[in-house]
Amino acid sequence: MTKKITKNKPEQKFFDSLRPKRLTNFIGQNQLKNQLKIFINAAKQRGESLDHVLFYGPPGLGKTTLACILAHEMETDIKIVSGPALSRAGDLASILTNLKDGDILFIDEIHRLNKVVEETLYPAMEDYALDLIVGKGPSARSIRLKLKRFTVVGATTRTGLISSPMRDRFGLVHKLDFYRSENLVEIIINSARVLLIDIDQEGALEVACRSRGTPRIANRLLKRVRDFAQVKGNGCINKETAQKALDDLGIDRIGLTGVDRKLLKLIIKKYQGGPVGLDNLGAGLVEDTGTIIDVYEPYLMKLGFLKRTPRGRVVTGRAKEHLNLADGQKKLI
Ligand SMILES: Nc1ncnc2c1ncn2[C@@H]1O[C@H](COP(=O)(O)OP(=O)(O)OP(=O)(O)O)[C@@H](O)[C@H]1O
Ligand SMILES: [Mg+2]
Repeated sequence: MTKKITKNKPEQKFFDSLRPKRLTNFIGQNQLKNQLKIFINAAKQRGESLDHVLFYGPPGLGKTTLACILAHEMETDIKIVSGPALSRAGDLASILTNLKDGDILFIDEIHRLNKVVEETLYPAMEDYALDLIVGKGPSARSIRLKLKRFTVVGATTRTGLISSPMRDRFGLVHKLDFYRSENLVEIIINSARVLLIDIDQEGALEVACRSRGTPRIANRLLKRVRDFAQVKGNGCINKETAQKALDDLGIDRIGLTGVDRKLLKLIIKKYQGGPVGLDNLGAGLVEDTGTIIDVYEPYLMKLGFLKRTPRGRVVTGRAKEHLNLADGQKKLI
């Protein structure tokens, strides 16, 4: 146990130092950034707390980072909890009663809150009040506690699983999109500066193109490429070292991993391109269906390689071409 904690610490520190603390250091997502700037300034001018905010989008795009940035910009404290960890209304009550004016309560994976906790949160978000039942049986009575004006920042990878009463209580709901390569290049170069890694522009572009539009993956790949450059090269990362390192890791030039290729090939070869149900896909890949939905599908859909239809998942011609499995290509082989 102790060993595990010590082992994880440097990794955690690495990611913490790479997390931008201010909105101006947050790269990309310009439309969202502009909205947040207005949102923060308006609240500051009125001397009020921020309205509740919901961020949604695939993992690693910056939801937690933005929640911490909001707290920094508003100069308030942030309390971070995860939806599934809040199992009882009492847990939520003790957190809420300890929040000060303007504090941020960040609820990660908010779609996984249980019903009772979620319903306790409704009046807390809307009226800053907490309705609690005290005692049992005939002597039970309901009391209403007044809360400070706090802000809930919710994050989810599955907006579809958030109930509409919950969603309606957020004043700002924003989707985070995959990042463009030029933004990822900037993120990679900044991270390299923090980590004292020597990388040139072309090397950074190579890593960016294979990072699935995701800053977390970009930072992770940068670390792996650094290892490769250190052991097999002179420590500097250029286009060639980046290409070799990433090829070695089984990440192709548009960022697909072995699992992505396996998923697409399974649908093409076993289900004649689809449609195929998610459960069959999960069983065929021996992967959790939640991971398929959250991690693999969003990027494949963004590339136009996969479609979700009412009858199941369908692979497109573009994916077949990429894998050299299109009809004409097959004949050539
Ligand atoms: N816009 C950005 N600029 C610079 N770095 C970023 C940006 N967005 C994210 N990052 C980096 O990516 C990492 C992952 O971001 P973060 O933890 O905020 O993602 P997330 O959306 O909360 O993911 P998850 O859904 O898995 O919780 C951060 O540690 C940070 O270093
Ligand atoms: Mg997060």
